[in-house]
Amino acid sequence: MESLLKTWDGECTIVSFDQPTGAWIFIAIHSTRLGPATGGTRMRSYPDPQSALRDALKLAAGMTYKYAVHGFPRGGGKAVLAVPPDLTTQSRADLLRRYGSLIQELNGLYYTGPDVGTSPVDMDIIAETGAPYVFCRTPAKGGAGDSGPATALGVFAGMQAACERVFGDASLQGRHVLVQGAGSVGESLIERLLAAGAMVSFSDVDDVIVRRFRDELGLPFVPQEAVYDTQCDIFAPCALGGILNQENIPRLKCRVVVGAANNQLGEPEDAEGLVARGILYAPDYVVNIGGAMAITGMEAMGWSPAQADKEVMGVRASLKKVLELADAEGITTESAARRIAEERLSMGPLKKYPPH
Ligand code: PHE
Repeated sequence: MESLLKTWDGECTIVSFDQPTGAWIFIAIHSTRLGPATGGTRMRSYPDPQSALRDALKLAAGMTYKYAVHGFPRGGGKAVLAVPPDLTTQSRADLLRRYGSLIQELNGLYYTGPDVGTSPVDMDIIAETGAPYVFCRTPAKGGAGDSGPATALGVFAGMQAACERVFGDASLQGRHVLVQGAGSVGESLIERLLAAGAMVSFSDVDDVIVRRFRDELGLPFVPQEAVYDTQCDIFAPCALGGILNQENIPRLKCRVVVGAANNQLGEPEDAEGLVARGILYAPDYVVNIGGAMAITGMEAMGWSPAQADKEVMGVRASLKKVLELADAEGITTESAARRIAEERLSMGPLKKYPPH
């Protein structure tokens, strides 16, 4: 853990071991250059605390780039709660309350929302002790609710930009999209794609979700081991990160990768592997800002839901800009996005979104 912390380029990391549950809490503050650090709370089991810390550090940096690419006035941060697999409902809730107190003590350095393993109901619990630094509480508790649909809207907008580039037509009508992970974002993305006339197939590791989408909605199910060999127009990773690597990139049979999962590339160089295969890769942090942007906008900046949707649709223009820069400079889309983000970070806070 020491070497992970020493080699990280972020601002600070808060580490707490929760005695009653045996959980590790890592709050990684990567950059507050553009605003207060804002990022989801990921809650899951890891093989060891190092893996959890590594995830937190990488995810927090992803949040920095996400906001910077779009010039959105928040900073990069993320929390990982690495929990034992057998946590009871009661001790899970108590852990969330202690985590909320920790956020409260940080006094606005870090704001949170949901991520893999947490929901708006969990945000209600965290907010009992962590308000006002908790986004996405349920509407009954005064929050804007789940961020998944807004993230899905942004990914959809990214797909339009990618289709326009690759197929010369932004429409998703008749395109085959393989959605990996039908959770909070994937589910909403699937609905949107079906409404737009796309052909959707899906993959998930959760039996309940598989039964729902395959048996009730009749969508073609792709088993996990076949995902990277399945012919499709667009592959949409919406589950966990680190899924594209040297081993499976040569197998892909898609033209485009656009999805919501954070940190999709195993290694940054995998972006080159995708270029070599002629696959357009939409950098994850360019297209998955929707939830964080819409909810932060509505809860902290006074946006109406309609304005939030409009801003999130801006993902289409942002991705277009990234694709154009990549073309003009002969660099990967990942490098182009990074360049735009770094330029923005070097400029400091933006005036585009006046404080509410
Ligand atoms: N899970 C969101 C993301 O990775 C984090 C988030 C959601 C942050 C909602 C703020 C509000 O972008």
